[in-house]
Amino acid sequence: MTYRELYFQLDKKKNNLLNGTAIKSILQDDGGFSDFFNLIKHFDEEVKNLDQINENVSRVLNGEPLQYVLGYAFFINSNYVVNKDVLIPRQETEELAVATLKMIVKMFGKEPKIKIIDIGTGSGILGIYLKEYFPHSTVICTDISENSIKIAKINAKNHNVIIDFRVGDMLEPIKDESDVSVIISNPPYIGDSSTVDPMTLKYEPHLALFANPKTKYYEEIFTAIDSQMMSEKFLLAFEIGEDMEDELTHILETKYQGIMYKFEKDIYGKVRFLYIVKDEGITYVA
Ligand SMILES: C[S@@+](CC[C@H](N)C(=O)[O-])C[C@H]1O[C@@H](n2cnc3c(N)ncnc32)[C@H](O)[C@@H]1O
Repeated sequence: MTYRELYFQLDKKKNNLLNGTAIKSILQDDGGFSDFFNLIKHFDEEVKNLDQINENVSRVLNGEPLQYVLGYAFFINSNYVVNKDVLIPRQETEELAVATLKMIVKMFGKEPKIKIIDIGTGSGILGIYLKEYFPHSTVICTDISENSIKIAKINAKNHNVIIDFRVGDMLEPIKDESDVSVIISNPPYIGDSSTVDPMTLKYEPHLALFANPKTKYYEEIFTAIDSQMMSEKFLLAFEIGEDMEDELTHILETKYQGIMYKFEKDIYGKVRFLYIVKDEGITYVA
């Protein structure tokens, strides 16, 4: 069977799970084609592994996320290995990564030699992305899940970056660090499982999703603010749930008076990011 024949056969089965993107991605994956244009160029060639394609199609039709079926996910400008032990990277997290990169340049220059820590690294996307842009900086990535650190190590190797990976609970693996300039984190922040998409609930690791109370991990990371761990000036950059601004403001105003912080919206206009800054020289960093 050729890619052309199979493409039009699958097109007839199209639904909200097996959509156009899924069909193209599964066929591109079989041929090792980088994009749809390349698939079209080879449209009249025989497919390589029909059994594997059929298995992938039925997994997608059963509701499994395409990224777990194929074993990789796209983040900003490249692919990262993913499996059921790590969260699938989200678009908001791309926004967090890019905005944080800009702030680092503003605060520390274009080629900073600083220490950056990614807490709850999952597949490693945030730490790896920042290390690629700031090769002279030291990047430490931590996670409580040993299995996710295994995946993050594969991704670091695939992206040719050296990262210090550590397994442990929140600040524990970095408690002896000093001179930390940046902490970036997208910690678990869902308090109520009834708000979660059923397929996310079924397939993605609950360890990556839930926190009780939902501010728990932010509060733990905030304790770094007053610790010996941080450098003279620093940046803490977080992804947050869309309903968390008031609670996090309350915590910062009561426990960390005088600290500079700013909430930012995502492209849909929802408040999804929190940046906390200590820098005498600037009043606004975004
Ligand atoms: C929302 S996911 C984010 C993963 C990745 N940074 C991303 O943005 O795709 C949260 C991550 O925090 C990790 N995590 C959960 N509890 C933790 C804890 N107590 N200490 C450290 N990491 C934790 C989970 O294993 C998961 O990888």
